Amino acid sequence: MNSLIRPRRLRISAGIRQLVRETSLEASNFVYPLFVVPGSNVRSEIPSMPGVFHLSPDMAVKEAAAAYALGIPAVLVFGLPEYKDAEGSSAWDMNSPVQKAMTMIKAALPDIIVIGDVCLCEYTSHGHCGLLNGHDVDNDSTLELLAKVALSQAQAGADMVAPSDMMDGRILAIRNKLNENGYKNVSIMSYAVKYASAYYGPFRDAAECAPQFGDRSSYQMDPANRREAMREVELDIAEGADIIMVKPALAYLDIVREIRDNFDYPMAAYNVSGEYSMVKAAAAQGWIDEKRMVLENLLSMKRAGADIIITYHAMDAARWLQEK
Ligand code: PBG
Ligand code: ZN
Repeated sequence: MNSLIRPRRLRISAGIRQLVRETSLEASNFVYPLFVVPGSNVRSEIPSMPGVFHLSPDMAVKEAAAAYALGIPAVLVFGLPEYKDAEGSSAWDMNSPVQKAMTMIKAALPDIIVIGDVCLCEYTSHGHCGLLNGHDVDNDSTLELLAKVALSQAQAGADMVAPSDMMDGRILAIRNKLNENGYKNVSIMSYAVKYASAYYGPFRDAAECAPQFGDRSSYQMDPANRREAMREVELDIAEGADIIMVKPALAYLDIVREIRDNFDYPMAAYNVSGEYSMVKAAAAQGWIDEKRMVLENLLSMKRAGADIIITYHAMDAARWLQEK
């Protein structure tokens, strides 16, 4: 045994381990997603996502306030509309739950960052993320609609919009629309690298947005591709994205690391519904230590290079970080 070099010397006490720790997790890294539904005084648990709730706008304000009080700086707002049609027109209806919730959250908590999910699948009768032409999701005619959604969210008070549709050219279309209407300071967090993933399963229950036919493979990325992810990031930056996102997170940490090594832009990792529900299900069985596993998962995203972590665990994790 060569006793000159002994890595265990730096592991012998909690104090030393803390001193040499390379990565840290903070509540200020988190974005907390909210699912807003019509009505008032609604707070009902989503069966596929224990601990996550459908919230009416008034209850969304309370949830946002609780998150903010724990040091979580931002919420990401998803919506379940009152009506759906082929175009997804409730997505830009100023009376829809999302727009109402945004305005109410900003009124109650002016300093919280409100981020809007920009997509059509929750609002279209067919459940796809864009306009249909036969069974094809038509890219170019969808862009104008996405830009309308982003503008309506900016008008409702959103600080940032996050397009999750994966149409080509949407960042530029949204940037131009926002600029033309005086929202030059509303930023764009692009779901630049979004894979066609089985990990979105529980979310589709939560947001009632499963496609009525086919799947999303003609617009979301093939999980097999790494180089293509770099091209997607390059394109979105060139079109004006302020923050880039990788989604899902855990099965794609290699992509997170590669983007961190190649682009000097803020990056978010989305710890998606399937990643969340797997942990919650195993914890409910008593098979894992939920707190340790959640903090380990989130830390791995930071270590891989993410600055921002979008996670349904945000409130629990923020509480656990306070205990430590
Ligand atoms: C809709 C959207 C999805 C998610 C975020 N926005 C689902 C999908 O693309 O099918 C997934 C989020 C999650 O699973 O937590 N475009
Ligand atoms: Zn969508």
